[in-house]
Amino acid sequence: MTQDVSSVTKGPPSGAEPLIRIEGVGKTFVGAADRTVALRDISFDVEAGSFVSFVGPSGCGKTTLLKMCAGLISLSTGSISYRGARRPIPPGDMGMVFQTAALMPWRTVMRNITYPADVLHLDKREARSRALELLKLVGLEGKESRLPQQLSGGQQQRVSIARGLLHDPAVLLMDEPFGALDALTREDMGFELQRIHQQSGKTILFVTHSIPESVLLSDQIIVLGTRPGRILKTYRVPLPRPRTIEHLQSPGMQEISAEIRALLSDNESRSVGMLGD
Ligand SMILES: Nc1ncnc2c1ncn2[C@@H]1O[C@H](COP(=O)(O)OP(=O)(O)OP(=O)(O)O)[C@@H](O)[C@H]1O
Ligand SMILES: [Mg+2]
Repeated sequence: MTQDVSSVTKGPPSGAEPLIRIEGVGKTFVGAADRTVALRDISFDVEAGSFVSFVGPSGCGKTTLLKMCAGLISLSTGSISYRGARRPIPPGDMGMVFQTAALMPWRTVMRNITYPADVLHLDKREARSRALELLKLVGLEGKESRLPQQLSGGQQQRVSIARGLLHDPAVLLMDEPFGALDALTREDMGFELQRIHQQSGKTILFVTHSIPESVLLSDQIIVLGTRPGRILKTYRVPLPRPRTIEHLQSPGMQEISAEIRALLSDNESRSVGMLGD
């Protein structure tokens, strides 16, 4: 189910084959004593070059879904296709930024950022010069020789964003990448990400808890509910880019933010009600 923001024009229909197709995907974690249905019947398409956000309460399966796209978690049902073939996104085509920075404490900032080049056997000199550019981009110029513990949590997360971009992947999977940043840095990084997206034509799958952030950045917002994790609604945001802070105040954006908020709080009260049954 896709809903367009009423006050803006409709986006072009997606006739071409999508870059990523998720069809009927489900995940049940089976433990020694219990089973958790993390996701049920998830289907959506991601067009090449688009920015797709996932919004939903804690535990609705956002991280699980991204990890399935990356081939890090198996599917219980359904299928994932990438460029028309039934497979997850190949490692060389994808950069991942996790919820926590997940840096290697014994490696310097430079060697953490160039880690994908080691794994993918890329040219070391090129990787170093690209890492220096990326350090500038994320505002950490001059910090390449530091160890992770000599950086703040927000700075560590910025290192992990640079690492995700190192090999210039076609697809970026970002799991709450800005969660550890202060509000102002977060806003700056959001606009940086929008710039990177526009300039590079990368496809970005982005998990966030911030509704305004998702509305500002996305072409498509997938709102997930919990118990079980499932899609409540998909929104398209075909507003022109670049989007600015002022756009956030526009009626179209305000309307969609309010609707997502209402949808999520309705889902939350229903699932709390179910628990009480
Ligand atoms: N390896 C695992 N084994 C068992 N259950 C798991 C595993 N990984 C996740 N789960 C369960 O699956 C559900 C979805 O977890 P997931 O981490 O994907 O949620 P999320 O939407 O990313 O939450 P958050 O916003 O808190 O990061 C949760 O109920 C979680 O407990
Ligand atoms: Mg998560």
